[in-house]
Amino acid sequence: MSDKATLEYQGKKYEFPVVKGTENELGIDIKTLRASTGMVTLDPGFKNTGSCESAITFLDGEKGILRYRGYTIEELAEKADFLEVAYLLIFGELPNKEKLAKFHMDIKAESHVDEEMKKILDGFPKSAHPMGVLSSLTSALIAFNPSSVNVTSEKDMYHAIVRILAKFPVLVAWTLRKKKGLPLDYGDNALGYVENIHKMMFKRPNEEYKRNPVRIEALDKLLILHADHEQNCSTSTVRIVGSSHAGLFASLSAGISALWGPLHGGANQAVLEMLEAIDADGGDTAKYMAKAKDKDDPFRLMGFGHRVYKNFDPRARIIKKAADEVLGDLGIEDPILEVAKGLEKEALEDPYFVDRKLYPNVDFYSGIIYRALGIPTEMFTVMFALGRLPGWIAQWREMRLRGEPIGRPRQIYIGENQRPFVPLENRG
Ligand code: ACO
Repeated sequence: MSDKATLEYQGKKYEFPVVKGTENELGIDIKTLRASTGMVTLDPGFKNTGSCESAITFLDGEKGILRYRGYTIEELAEKADFLEVAYLLIFGELPNKEKLAKFHMDIKAESHVDEEMKKILDGFPKSAHPMGVLSSLTSALIAFNPSSVNVTSEKDMYHAIVRILAKFPVLVAWTLRKKKGLPLDYGDNALGYVENIHKMMFKRPNEEYKRNPVRIEALDKLLILHADHEQNCSTSTVRIVGSSHAGLFASLSAGISALWGPLHGGANQAVLEMLEAIDADGGDTAKYMAKAKDKDDPFRLMGFGHRVYKNFDPRARIIKKAADEVLGDLGIEDPILEVAKGLEKEALEDPYFVDRKLYPNVDFYSGIIYRALGIPTEMFTVMFALGRLPGWIAQWREMRLRGEPIGRPRQIYIGENQRPFVPLENRG
């Protein structure tokens, strides 16, 4: 097979190298395209554009494969915990016991958040959307940790990473506690990383905190499943913001805003709101299936379809099983789950969804678990951000270590050609 691709335009031929990834993915390297042809490519939504070479996450949407650093998501969800997965994503290898213990100890040493940050949180109305609050608080962290990261120093880089892994869960917990009207609390450094997050979120001021392994394991699994997903919208945002050499915290704050949208991380909130609306409307799933298929109706079945998975989302399989287990273990019977199951069954048999390869994605089920754990719907995307944090960090670190250039796409201009200025008094 040729390792060059040829482009022919107006009788001229141009050759471009073909690059091959370790999973035999092929890409045409068009770095010299504009210089040699004067043209750019046009690819709205970057559906055909590889923005970088990356060694972090592999996914094959056709086969439903997702691997972090070569390990399958199925194995990691079953055998590893979130902190191990975070280490793996960021540093490339699973940590041994000593490395993991040190990593956790270094995180614990940074797990305080400046008390002044509480004043910032105080300034937000209780009705503020938690994603807006979280993105603002993450930005505000910069003011309290102003030293910029020297990316040529592994030590500096490591310090910035453990700092954000330590402080971000506190911000997440505070965002939830503010919403619930609970006092802002710190965790307990004697606990595991995820257990501590759980305690920070749910400890009530007048009750002793009781460990519930089912809830903690469910949370751990959800965080692992969301930990990275290669060059999605928020990760691309983190990389592109970081490519201007903006700091890690600023890049993460931008990623949180990107994740907020209902077509991305905001889908888990949208799914639950949709299921509640269908339930409140009598549970008539057929009616909503018809709406989803009607091209004159903007309604979409939230939690269905994926830009990359055109077969099934492997995370959805794991999470569906986890949702059944959690609800069973916690003894929760949720009518919303029945609506979800009804929709899923109908969609999987409906030619509209089958032909377009629209399958339930991870968000279809994650909301059901979050709800069972007592997390308010508006907080769902915040939980997604908490899970995605190591992925964003890993991608930012990789991008900086590889010395990638500033992200700056081109365009095809379709506006007015040059025209003379019309003074205000002469305009009709
Ligand atoms: N309900 C009904 N129809 C749908 C849905 C849906 N959820 N998703 C896609 N379609 C249809 C489109 O109308 C289109 O139909 P057409 O070919 O007749 O015009 C076709 O399927 C292809 O859809 P696109 O929007 O072109 O697919 P794309 O890859 O651009 O979008 C996306 C993927 C944004 C996820 C889309 O499926 C969607 O909006 N889903 C609902 C929102 C959602 O669940 N988002 C979460 C994504 S997962 C995540 O971020 C973790």
